[in-house]
Amino acid sequence: MVRVTVPSFAKLNLDLRVLHKRPDGYHELRTIFQTISLRDTLSIEFDFAKQSQIEICSSLNIPDNLIVRSAKLLLDYLKIKAWVRFSLSKRIPMGAGLGGGSSNAAAVLIALPPLTGKRIRPAELVRLAESLGSDVPFFLYGGTALGCGRGSELYPLPDQPSRPALVVSTGIHVSTADAYRALGRDVTNALTSQAESPILREFQTITWAINGSGLDQFPLKNDFESAVFRNHPEILAAVRKLRRLGAKPAGMTGSGSAVFGLFQTAEETRAAAAKWPAGRAFPVRFVSRRQYASLWRRALGRAAAVSCFAR
Ligand code: C5P
Repeated sequence: MVRVTVPSFAKLNLDLRVLHKRPDGYHELRTIFQTISLRDTLSIEFDFAKQSQIEICSSLNIPDNLIVRSAKLLLDYLKIKAWVRFSLSKRIPMGAGLGGGSSNAAAVLIALPPLTGKRIRPAELVRLAESLGSDVPFFLYGGTALGCGRGSELYPLPDQPSRPALVVSTGIHVSTADAYRALGRDVTNALTSQAESPILREFQTITWAINGSGLDQFPLKNDFESAVFRNHPEILAAVRKLRRLGAKPAGMTGSGSAVFGLFQTAEETRAAAAKWPAGRAFPVRFVSRRQYASLWRRALGRAAAVSCFAR
């Protein structure tokens, strides 16, 4: 039996534009993903077995568990029968746009193959990740990345300096599918419609300019904000409070309901966190792609040599 304990980081969408609805039912996106230091911890025990058996113990009851689905998918793909036990220590608020479930699923895809001694080609790993959810592939890379298509087509952006940020969990549950529906986007398979051109131009200038301190100079946007704020004014109130406390910029991540603000120093971030009840505000830092890979390598130990983070 082998055992590893691995990190599972949260993400922010620093900017998020929802373009048209596609014929496949998903929406065409442009987004800037960023991993942050807020993380769950996943322990995995693994042994080969005659019949596959996957168990999970978690501090929380997680419906439709992506960890189990991810493990099943991977064992089937590798044609391996195994006993796998997961223990999840959850810190990332759920249903909050922080990618916690997607990150957990990706953590399984990263950690399990090396435990089986098998390698998976990167393109195959991305394909498996995409079948689990649109945000899952990002967590195979981490750092700062441009997400296109469903959000699963990824390109690296320059690593950002380790900026302090405050993530605030509003505790409201926003359904992702409902948030998309509320946008009422038309279906088209045109690559760029006339109405989308100005949105894309604005987004482009941001991605060209993105290099750390530049972040506060640009009007970062999240297209879900207006619709979600209309239904949940408390979320807008949390963004405004972050701005009053000096965050620049501040906004919502994903389809909500968590919000975040960037600060200049860790002290300012901690002082702002103290303005929320305990357990609601999380002072974090950006985790760069380099740090992400290095933290993963450290967690996997010798198994890292056969992981997707092998040097
Ligand atoms: O891919 P994932 O399972 O995370 O998506 C959840 C739901 O969010 C989808 O069923 C779809 O309704 C919506 N979605 C979308 N366009 C995307 C990503 C998600 O419409 N790019």
